[in-house]
Amino acid sequence: MLGVALLWCVLGLAKALQDHSGFSQENFAAYTLSLSLANTTHFEATCEKIARSISSASQVFYPDSQEFDLDISHWANSSSQIPVCSVEPGTPDDVASILQQIARARVPFAVKSGGHATNPGFSSTSGVHISMTRFNHIAISKDSRTVEVGAGVTWTDVYAYLVPKGLNVVGGRVNGVGVAGFTLGGGYSWKSNQYGLTADTVTEFHLVSPNGTEIVVTEEDEDLWFALRGGFNNYGIVTKFILKLYPQTNVWGASLSFEGELADAAEAAFVKFLSWPHDHKAAQMEVKQVSFGLSLFYDGPEPPMGLYDELLSLTSTTTTIFQGTFTDFIVCTNGIPMLRFTEPIMKAYANETKFWGDRLSQYDDNMLFFYVLEPFEPDFLAHGEPSAYPPDRSLTVFPSLIYVGWTSASSDVYMEDAARHSAASLVEAAIQDGQDLKNAATYVNYAMFGTPLERMYGEHLERLRGIRKKYDPEDVMGLAGGWKF
Ligand SMILES: Cc1cc2nc3c(=O)[nH]c(=O)nc-3n(C[C@H](O)[C@H](O)[C@H](O)COP(=O)(O)OP(=O)(O)OC[C@H]3O[C@@H](n4cnc5c(N)ncnc54)[C@H](O)[C@@H]3O)c2cc1C
Ligand SMILES: *[C@@H]1O[C@H](CO)[C@@H](O)[C@H](O)[C@H]1NC(C)=O
Ligand SMILES: *[C@@H]1O[C@H](CO)[C@@H](O)[C@H](O)[C@H]1NC(C)=O
Ligand SMILES: *[C@@H]1O[C@H](CO)[C@@H](O)[C@H](O)[C@H]1NC(C)=O
Ligand SMILES: *[C@@H]1O[C@H](CO)[C@@H](O)[C@H](O)[C@H]1NC(C)=O
Repeated sequence: MLGVALLWCVLGLAKALQDHSGFSQENFAAYTLSLSLANTTHFEATCEKIARSISSASQVFYPDSQEFDLDISHWANSSSQIPVCSVEPGTPDDVASILQQIARARVPFAVKSGGHATNPGFSSTSGVHISMTRFNHIAISKDSRTVEVGAGVTWTDVYAYLVPKGLNVVGGRVNGVGVAGFTLGGGYSWKSNQYGLTADTVTEFHLVSPNGTEIVVTEEDEDLWFALRGGFNNYGIVTKFILKLYPQTNVWGASLSFEGELADAAEAAFVKFLSWPHDHKAAQMEVKQVSFGLSLFYDGPEPPMGLYDELLSLTSTTTTIFQGTFTDFIVCTNGIPMLRFTEPIMKAYANETKFWGDRLSQYDDNMLFFYVLEPFEPDFLAHGEPSAYPPDRSLTVFPSLIYVGWTSASSDVYMEDAARHSAASLVEAAIQDGQDLKNAATYVNYAMFGTPLERMYGEHLERLRGIRKKYDPEDVMGLAGGWKF
């Protein structure tokens, strides 16, 4: 949906930044390792061994094949790399064989599901690329309480299957995002006010652990249950999720856009609107560019009287009201995220938009740059039990993003710095405005590479490291990129 040629860098904002300047290289270790170890002969030999070890349900592909190109494709160019081979496992047993070969050869590898990570090296590699695309099964349980979802599917696939049946899951808000990365990082949904994070609605993870053991992880497994809800690929490869089902009626949505003075009035009305609580079927997100965009959602055919009256009565540049199925609504939205919003904060956003808009556009005419803000109800994190992320459920932190997109690799450093600086300025503005962000975690699925793990996982980090030692003593998953405990 957004230009493939764009490099994207996405950065979580709702966070405690005490030292904005430095960032840890630690998370990036696996990625740089994959670059420095580039002995392609060794990688090729591993690809061949994998090809010999897997069943006919699975297959290895090499460059210049259509399958290879699809396997390695990502939503953002910045997170794409060319591996020596790609492999599409078709069974958990084959995932186990692949992991065993990788462990023996110690080659860098990647696990890709929906390919929506924007950080370099998180689901890409110069070594062996594992694409989960063959895990595409979706099936409703006999009692219709849960749905089994293969790790290779996107939310779009899941909605297309469930919504016509009057059922749904707590999933993504934008087309194309993968179920796996989204859920393993937490997952903020239009339905989070009602049911919590997507990870809170999982009942089983089917995991192939780093030594090739297949484990069904449920609430009974104290450690892995905690670790997989936010811990990404640190504990192995998930082949299947069982998710809770909820009834789905038609939904209502509105998309409003305001420019110039109208934007100021809309921002003030939005700040006023945010005096919680609201009906939990309601959800909103805002996009701050030069213009101000409001996306309003209601998980029912019509919002209750009064809920959105004031916002809808504002004079907007464009207004689109939507009534229809949940699937259509997802198609017509664009963007994500959030913070805690007061008038001074909105002023800070406006200033940042102007300041960086002016500078970044001088670097690249095709630059795309905006902030997404996402308020949730104060109790939305109370739906889940302790999990890797977020580190503190008693604190209602709203994730939020800055998107910077550009086309020329020569601008990388400048653009990435801008994203870091602008995020830091907004956090500073929030602190000045009296917000105590000391324990406010950055959302792991939005954080830019280099963000210290402590800022995302807080006091959970130590426990997560311990679980990692127990299940991955050989550090096999350390050969894949991502947030590494
Ligand atoms: C357009 C867009 C919209 C978005 N909307 C939302 C939103 O509404 N709410 C929200 O919370 N987030 C949202 N996100 C962020 C999104 O949740 C993350 O980018 C997520 O990690 C993507 O998952 P994926 O499977 O598509 O990505 P991938 O790039 O395939 O994977 C992401 C990470 O998960 C790991 N991983 C993937 N599959 C597996 C597996 N089977 N087993 C173990 N590890 C695995 C990968 O190794 C990688 O580190 C959005 C992102 C984009 C680009
Ligand atoms: C590269 O890998 C091949 C095959 O595994 C191995 O024989 C060779 O010694 C490796 N070369 C280096 C420089 O590590
Ligand atoms: C990223 O885009 C550039 C320019 O279009 C292209 O040359 C490069 O091959 C792309 N990289 C990947 C890994 O797709
Ligand atoms: C506007 O933002 C820039 C960049 O963060 C900052 O240097 C400047 O002080 C801000 N101005 C105001 C009035 O906040
Ligand atoms: C593999 O890991 C599992 C889970 O941690 C463990 O129970 C099992 O003993 C391990 N097997 C071997 C051979 O190390």
